[in-house]
Amino acid sequence: MKGMIFTEFLDLVEEKYGLEVVDEIIEKSDLKSNGAYTSVGVYDFTEMLQLLQHLSMHTKLSIDKLLLLYGEHFFSVLLKRYPDFISAYKDPITLLASIENHIHVEVLKLYPDAELPTFNILEQTETSIIMIYKSSRAMHYFGKGIMHKTFEHFGSTASVILETLNENGTEVKFIIQQIT
Ligand code: HEM
Repeated sequence: MKGMIFTEFLDLVEEKYGLEVVDEIIEKSDLKSNGAYTSVGVYDFTEMLQLLQHLSMHTKLSIDKLLLLYGEHFFSVLLKRYPDFISAYKDPITLLASIENHIHVEVLKLYPDAELPTFNILEQTETSIIMIYKSSRAMHYFGKGIMHKTFEHFGSTASVILETLNENGTEVKFIIQQIT
């Protein structure tokens, strides 16, 4: 997992809960990196899971809820770091429909070692889209958070329903309906 995902996560934890909580979740985890991340490095996904588990214990929020909040925050990171990827689109459905064939393709050109999910489209209309998310990392709630903010960015709202297709959440159906 790219270091940027760790550094932005720990920045958000510091902003919301303070530096003591950042130190606490790092200390309680058994991290090969010792919690020293650089945005260009690549680290084990299990490190992210441990940090999330300890933050979940501290905040009493579920890991899914924490991933949702992080995804919502992460959209602003994307907007700041990769404005051209977002401004290439005029509406949220087209943007989401392009994750697989454009956005994450460009991400892989920039970072060949990125580990990305797949989002395959089952159905698409002007105001709705159904996609199948697949990833061994089961970060579907992170995706849902990014999607909420994608709609908000275009002055719109949507219902995003997740249907897990297997027990560990590595395959999830996203049913997305634009409301306004
Ligand atoms: C400017 C546009 C985007 C950029 C630059 C971008 C970049 C990235 C990067 C660098 C990662 C981490 C890869 C790694 O750890 O190795 C990632 C992961 C991810 N991205 Fe994107 N992304 C973009 C848009 C989106 C959008 C619109 C979605 C929609 C939900 C999305 C969904 C995800 C998810 C769910 C992951 C977590 C990894 C996983 O589930 O396996 N991304 N993305």
